Amino acid sequence: MSDTATPVNTPMQGAQATPATRLSKRDIDSTLNARLAALQTPKLRDEYGQQGSFLYIEDFLPRDYTERLIAAVHDTMPAVNRNYLPGHKAGGSVSRHTLDKLAPFIADLYRSDALIKWLEAITGDKLQLSPEDDPHAYALYFYTRPGDHIGWHYDTSYYEGRRYTLLLGVIDDSSCLLDYELHTKTPGKSAQPGAVQYPPGAFVFFDGDKLRHRVTPLGENEMRVSLTFEYVTNPNMRPFQRFISNMKDSIAYFGFKQVFRRKGGKNGQA
Ligand SMILES: [Fe+2]
Repeated sequence: MSDTATPVNTPMQGAQATPATRLSKRDIDSTLNARLAALQTPKLRDEYGQQGSFLYIEDFLPRDYTERLIAAVHDTMPAVNRNYLPGHKAGGSVSRHTLDKLAPFIADLYRSDALIKWLEAITGDKLQLSPEDDPHAYALYFYTRPGDHIGWHYDTSYYEGRRYTLLLGVIDDSSCLLDYELHTKTPGKSAQPGAVQYPPGAFVFFDGDKLRHRVTPLGENEMRVSLTFEYVTNPNMRPFQRFISNMKDSIAYFGFKQVFRRKGGKNGQA
């Protein structure tokens, strides 16, 4: 096993392994519990509420975990699916199905009980994993060509309950901004604009139906990759909503093969 893939610089326990070595669920939970215990959770919960279900934390992930995510980007680069929707979006994505094969650390991190419990403390909601067939449950977004961007939108929940988006910074050698507007859905409040350029290891978390947001276009010789996790309060989805969600994920993100793989193919490989 090579230990030269990525420099390891870890202040956290249980993190001497290289990005190529899979960590146990117990290791991940104990590392994250130690990290999360250092945060001022009650204060952050208040901030989340005051900002209309939005929270940003610049220094969130242990350094070793950020290095593992950067290694995952390199491992998944050949599998990026590019999309271009004139006037709305240009960029690449790697779905959870591909991450399961090529970057299992991301799947393990997504399922961390320590992380989910802490997000529940922030939101006050009982959170659940997205269903196995949701390609967006965890995904990498690649901004690699000049002009890559996504226009103003909400991360609309097609589920029967709420859908929360967690974004983690992985690579940011760019001038891109995550522009957002708080309180667009808060009765009696006027919209409050903001922007953040979240660096590797940073955390952005919001209720998808409440935060209007966009990512501004990538400049020349720039690169940006972020990781998204999606948690829900009710994993049920009605058939028509399922259809809309699948079409959107196929066209705007992952391609029809990834989205419809379990329905149309043998052994889930279509
Ligand atoms: Fe979004």
